[in-house]
Amino acid sequence: MRIYKAKDYDEMSRKAANIISAQVILKPDCVLGLATGSTPIGTYKKLIEWYEKGDLDFSEVTSVNLDEYKGLDKENDQSYYYFMHTNFFNYVNISPDSINLPNGMEPDSDKECARYDEVIRSVGGVDLQLLGLGHNGHIGFNEPAEEFKKGTHCVDLQASTIEANARFFASMDEVPKQAYTMGIRTIMSAKKILVVVSGADKAGIVKKAFTGPVTPHVPASLLQMHSDVTVVGDAAALSELDI
Ligand code: F6R
Repeated sequence: MRIYKAKDYDEMSRKAANIISAQVILKPDCVLGLATGSTPIGTYKKLIEWYEKGDLDFSEVTSVNLDEYKGLDKENDQSYYYFMHTNFFNYVNISPDSINLPNGMEPDSDKECARYDEVIRSVGGVDLQLLGLGHNGHIGFNEPAEEFKKGTHCVDLQASTIEANARFFASMDEVPKQAYTMGIRTIMSAKKILVVVSGADKAGIVKKAFTGPVTPHVPASLLQMHSDVTVVGDAAALSELDI
């Protein structure tokens, strides 16, 4: 595991974007596994900037996103489809046909999970998987549990997540209660993994996940077993590590 300490969020974003750029330049038809959340927004901004300068070309890239809320359509501004388009895809030349996310509007979970696993298999797996880190050690929507869930699966969101999301919706009924997420085996099968972390509130979980015991109670701890993981964090997020 390589760990890069950046002085702040901006430097973290530039470093992470550098690593993604290197992947796209070395393998223009690569498969990028992408994440939503607040942490990678700056990384996407840098990639857009460099694309606009003519330094990057996404025309042959395929993307597969980690997760999506079940029950939200593409137009819903809380959907991850919407997030990815408004924060990244709409501003670069990735082909719309090469963009993949779980379909939140498919009510049959077994069918959608099997479809998404087949999508990932058919594109040849992920070359570089970008991940954020949840405060409880979750990656994608793989929450702390008694065991690692392997393939794409449907997750019942924790009550705290549902409550936290309620502010974005007109009524409690509209708040998603479930989500589709790539499983741990899929994430671990990526050839390279890039984790971005920012802020002092992540310092404790960074230490636990990357130096503590490997356990499904801290899903990100399994990344210690992957042979090519790069963590890019700002000084605040890495402050509890001895580096
Ligand atoms: C996003 C995702 C989540 C986030 C994590 C961190 O697609 O699957 O696991 O990466 O919750 O979120 P932020 O970056 O908002 O702290």
